[in-house]
Amino acid sequence: MCPDINSLFDAHNQREEPARISTPDSMESIESEELPAFFTERNGRRYHVQSNSTYPLPCDDREQQRLNAQHILLKQILQTNYIGQIGQILNAPGQSHGSARPKIVLDLCTGTGIWLTETATDFPRVHCIGVDMVPIATRYPENNVRFEVHNLLSGISCRDASVDIIHARDILLGFPSPRLPALIREIARVLIPGGLFASGEIHLSVHTPNGIDPFTYCPNTARFFQSLRQVLESLSHPSIGPAYLFNLLSTRNSAFEITQRNFYTIPLGGFSSDPQIREVGMRWANLMHDFALSIREIMDRAIGRESWDNIIRGFNEDITSRREMVMHYHTLSAIKR
Ligand SMILES: C[S@@+](CC[C@H](N)C(=O)[O-])C[C@H]1O[C@@H](n2cnc3c(N)ncnc32)[C@H](O)[C@@H]1O
Repeated sequence: MCPDINSLFDAHNQREEPARISTPDSMESIESEELPAFFTERNGRRYHVQSNSTYPLPCDDREQQRLNAQHILLKQILQTNYIGQIGQILNAPGQSHGSARPKIVLDLCTGTGIWLTETATDFPRVHCIGVDMVPIATRYPENNVRFEVHNLLSGISCRDASVDIIHARDILLGFPSPRLPALIREIARVLIPGGLFASGEIHLSVHTPNGIDPFTYCPNTARFFQSLRQVLESLSHPSIGPAYLFNLLSTRNSAFEITQRNFYTIPLGGFSSDPQIREVGMRWANLMHDFALSIREIMDRAIGRESWDNIIRGFNEDITSRREMVMHYHTLSAIKR
């Protein structure tokens, strides 16, 4: 069932109690005592319970801290919170597309909702909706924010042509290649004509100075990423996720016109003489280490715990001994035709 987003906000604005996370089907708030049903624990970490999802990362406090720290760094790397034309569209004077309604931003796989919460603060007139399959966003969001718990593998629970901007950052681990085309079709369905899809994805790969073969320059790190990609590929994830997404959006009959595509360089390790870049590089390396621990369930299963531990150890050695390793963050924005 597709809720009417505008009525969702009408109901929300009339309420005296703080907004709650809801499920889109019932539109009823999830009560605190219902929350445990959304999670399961394994090996000391908390995971989602969606049986049709192969999303491999946990969703516990530790993972939420990682996501929030990653958000801060990505914002620093982009030097803005807003991919592509998001800022321009939301800053544009007057109402969107000649209508009197407030603009609507939908954040797919919103996680802790940190990006959406900041967007809602920056643009208080905009209606912001965050969707995730686990209720880890705040239960008491700003007045112009709603968080919904919904598994996007069943589609997007919004009406056709009802959303101005769809933002999706770091979502690809939730969608193996065979599931992505359906998601893209849903994004096209839900966006208004002229609406914007904005995506940001981290490419799990290392780049070296002057394109030297990573297996020569930083063999441990090269192995680290190669193992990750191989295991993900065995679970039907594309080897270069951001490129796969780009290809899907740019097919001949695509419902989208790509308006921007950027590759941002992220330093991996504290090698830079610039103190700010050095700080980002050290933090990013720590985040990749945390990511390695977060994704360890599928890595341990595929290659064994000891092997993955050894690979992580090698990665940490490279971080302190190899200079100028970088990763890439891919952003793209596309207009719905
Ligand atoms: C790596 S996190 C990124 C969170 C957020 N976009 C950010 O950049 O901080 C990926 C998120 O996607 C969510 N997710 C994965 N598969 C999903 C699905 N099928 N439906 C809804 N959410 C999903 C996960 O629960 C997780 O919160």
